[in-house]
Amino acid sequence: MQTYDAIVLGGGAAGLMCAAVAGQRGRRVIVLERAAEVGKKILISGGGRCNFTNLNTAPDRYLSANPHFAKSALSRYTARDFLALVEAHGIAWHEKTLGQLFCDGSARQIVAMLLAECAKAAAAGGTVEVRSGEEIGKVSHDGSEYRVMTSSGAFAAPALVIATGGPSIPKMGASDFAYRLARHFGLKVVEPRPALVPLTLGGEDVLFRDLSGVSAEVVARCGKAAFREAALFTHRGLSGPAILQVSSYWHPGEAIGIDFLPNAAGGWLLEAKRANSRGTVRSVLADALPDRLAATLAERIALAGDLGNMPDKALHSAEARLADWRFHPNGSEGFAKAEVTVGGIVTAELSSKTMEARRVPGLYAIGEAVDVTGWLGGYNFQWAWASAVAAGTAL
Ligand code: FDA
Repeated sequence: MQTYDAIVLGGGAAGLMCAAVAGQRGRRVIVLERAAEVGKKILISGGGRCNFTNLNTAPDRYLSANPHFAKSALSRYTARDFLALVEAHGIAWHEKTLGQLFCDGSARQIVAMLLAECAKAAAAGGTVEVRSGEEIGKVSHDGSEYRVMTSSGAFAAPALVIATGGPSIPKMGASDFAYRLARHFGLKVVEPRPALVPLTLGGEDVLFRDLSGVSAEVVARCGKAAFREAALFTHRGLSGPAILQVSSYWHPGEAIGIDFLPNAAGGWLLEAKRANSRGTVRSVLADALPDRLAATLAERIALAGDLGNMPDKALHSAEARLADWRFHPNGSEGFAKAEVTVGGIVTAELSSKTMEARRVPGLYAIGEAVDVTGWLGGYNFQWAWASAVAAGTAL
């Protein structure tokens, strides 16, 4: 039995950050990672450039059964704190849009940075051992110590950190391991569902699949959530940032609304009629939207002919429809394509300050395993870093 101060299960974003912080406080930490290499989701994130944080990080950009839970960790370790770390490692970065920060070079730099931070433990009298290719077997608690059996040995520590992420993208080895382990120790789990995921269309909406590849800047809405970004038609339905964002709020059976002309002022179609009575709905739509999309929308609105011959009332209702076009997704592309998972370990089970389980001393949960899910755009990594620092400083 090899003994440590803390065992971290999962060598992803949160697990590596937590181990580095604890190691730099002189703790002896072991990270047990199942995959052959650590940080696989970091490596594929942001198209290989890792959208590592968002300057606009705020608690209202996270979904959770308890929207207040993330406040403490997010306020104690901010996007600026992570950016300072990135800069201290000489990693060049840029802001793409909407506060989203990416590496100029490669996501590999972020993984290398986290491993370099782990290696700094030695200077503080700690150690961080990172082991990949470890298949976790039995995990138990004997009252004072957690014991973890793996394919290569047995490990014991007074603290155990669950950092194995969520079940999104099982092809990459993601699973519900965190939830199973949490339940094993008596913690509740909010039913997980895929988030930041493309939505699929069927029924009457199926015609829109012919627009595969067409995109436009829209405002997409689901309930009270609204996002102004690009929407993309795919051969299965809808994708693009605006759709991924609303997908996190969407539940089966609900409709989503799309404003195809977010720049248009009220009355624009009547205005177009006055300006050019020989124009058509299709031609005025084509001024603002890709041609194929304009054609499909005009066809569905079914107002053929010159605008000059159309009653104002019909144009008024066409305008209203274009501002809130209702799609009824028949599903999503599921965990196979979801960037993240909504739901997870119930936050009421954890201290928002340390991420330690209230009823199970020494057990911690961080990152995506917890019921805190961010918007698209670097918010999920920021939660991984912040929750990891909260736990790492408490271990
Ligand atoms: P993460 O998934 O990073 O780490 C969990 C680790 O545990 C993995 O290494 C896994 O192999 C390991 N593990 C799982 N089960 C195990 C077991 N039984 N035993 C041992 N180890 C086990 N977010 C963002 O903010 N900006 C972005 O650009 C992107 N881009 C992006 C692209 C794609 C394609 C995906 C799928 C996701 C993103 N994300 C993102 C989301 C982001 O990747 C995610 O929120 C974080 O990686 C979560 O960090 P965690 O450490 O919690 O889990």
